[in-house]
Amino acid sequence: MKIGIIADLHLPKKELPPRPEPGKKPTPLPDDPITAGVKAFYEKAKEEKYDFVINLGDLVEGTGNGDDDYMTASMFSRSMISSTVNTYYVLGNHDAMFIPKDLLLHCSQTLGGAYSFIKEGVLFIALDANYSCDGKSYEPGASDWTDSYIPDAQKEFLKKQLERTDFERAVILCHQRLDLFMDGLEHVNPHVVGNAEEIRNILESSGKTALVLQAHYHSGDDTVQNGIRYYTQQAFFKKFAYSVLTVNENGFAIEKETI
Ligand SMILES: [Fe+2]
Repeated sequence: MKIGIIADLHLPKKELPPRPEPGKKPTPLPDDPITAGVKAFYEKAKEEKYDFVINLGDLVEGTGNGDDDYMTASMFSRSMISSTVNTYYVLGNHDAMFIPKDLLLHCSQTLGGAYSFIKEGVLFIALDANYSCDGKSYEPGASDWTDSYIPDAQKEFLKKQLERTDFERAVILCHQRLDLFMDGLEHVNPHVVGNAEEIRNILESSGKTALVLQAHYHSGDDTVQNGIRYYTQQAFFKKFAYSVLTVNENGFAIEKETI
């Protein structure tokens, strides 16, 4: 199984194309460089026959105008519909901070919230850490990205999922980091989820989690803690970086690539 991984597109605001003159064909607006890069990535995904793509969040940069940001996400999603490669979205803080979650859910079937799916014996569990530590969901105009949290309902969901007996190995997807990542010896870096330690305990005690895919920390990273690999995907918007995850009977292999 071959999976393409992208994250942190931070798409700029998309302009609405002008209405064509009567009887004339519409002239499409040229793509911004990030959208052009993503289209090149999907061409590759098609050529190399990726089974699917995982987008680890922060689709939009966010302008502060919810209608514009929703339009950007919608137009982008529509332009990707022609791709034959299915995409699983994970919600990022920029998505949740600029677009109401109930609208985001309409961008694609799986955008927003926690969910899971199984492919070839691997259980993928997407988490949504776009909550503040009081359990309140991020919403436009009132969110602090340094305060991220996985609320109780999702912890229960995660435990229940990991108790399933119909999978061999689990891969966790989360926009924010779940590994322990310190700023010197001073404090835990704010890109890490506030209650990440609790989540790591759940993952470790299940014994079936091999890999966590995360983003948000734009330079990327790759750590192993208590037998679990935490792979932080580098941001796409900076250097058109993506990764290819290969899953076979030997385990997981990740290759770093650029467009
Ligand atoms: Fe982010």
